[in-house]
Amino acid sequence: MTKATEDPAGHVSDEGPGEIPRHVAVIMDGNGRWAQARGLPRTEGHRRGMESLRRIIRHASGIGVGYLTLYSFSSENWRRPAEEVGFLMSLLRFFIRRDLAELHAERVRIRVIGLREGLAPDIAALLDEAESLTAGNDGLTLVIAFNYGSRAEIAEAVRALAVEVAAGRLDPAAIDSDAIGERLFTAGLPDPDLVIRTSGEQRLSNFLLWQSAYSELVFSPVHWPDFDEARFDEAIREYNARERRFGGVGARQGVR
Ligand code: FPP
Repeated sequence: MTKATEDPAGHVSDEGPGEIPRHVAVIMDGNGRWAQARGLPRTEGHRRGMESLRRIIRHASGIGVGYLTLYSFSSENWRRPAEEVGFLMSLLRFFIRRDLAELHAERVRIRVIGLREGLAPDIAALLDEAESLTAGNDGLTLVIAFNYGSRAEIAEAVRALAVEVAAGRLDPAAIDSDAIGERLFTAGLPDPDLVIRTSGEQRLSNFLLWQSAYSELVFSPVHWPDFDEARFDEAIREYNARERRFGGVGARQGVR
């Protein structure tokens, strides 16, 4: 097991991440605080956050992560000032227009989770285009959580089950975890092995609540615009130092 070392300036030395988790999900927090600490508008933090996002996608793809899910806009983010919401929408447009062709060439497959309703028609069309263009790719699956909220996702899945039961197509006794999982936005995707949250906050904020039942959670003190490749590898090293037991006793304990 390797350990991250920090020099006096707080830079993390990169000793390699170790075994690569199949699915990494990230709550990209701290754009606003990064900007405020520098006397810049919050929007500048988001702009820099998008550059971090671009770097981390390439890095995750390069080291062999299979699935990378990024919490880009939550269903609660509509409560922010209209100007900030508008800016985040423009960033998504900009990101897809600028990067889609390159991501496609790198064989990245894009999936978008969240509600399309409520989004401007041109944004919904861009998201559809990104998904359909890249659907046949076999590289990194990039899952963009946009207008996403986990409780609404679960409620929608339960509603779909209720409709099927009411129509006589489904026996209530057949409702199990798989039946719910198959009706979530993430149907067909593996559960995240590792959930990273940047910026020191230690909560899930309505992100992948069902899917992260057995995920390892790693909290980084770094604001998202400063979260670089070395920090990503550091989070994976911390993940590798954990023992995942999935409710069992774990290999290190054995049977008594
Ligand atoms: C949290 O920072 C971040 C977000 C709400 C949005 C994440 C957006 C990006 C990383 C930019 C790229 C986006 C797209 C759509 C490509 P915060 O504003 O909550 O930070 P704070 O907690 O310090 O205020």
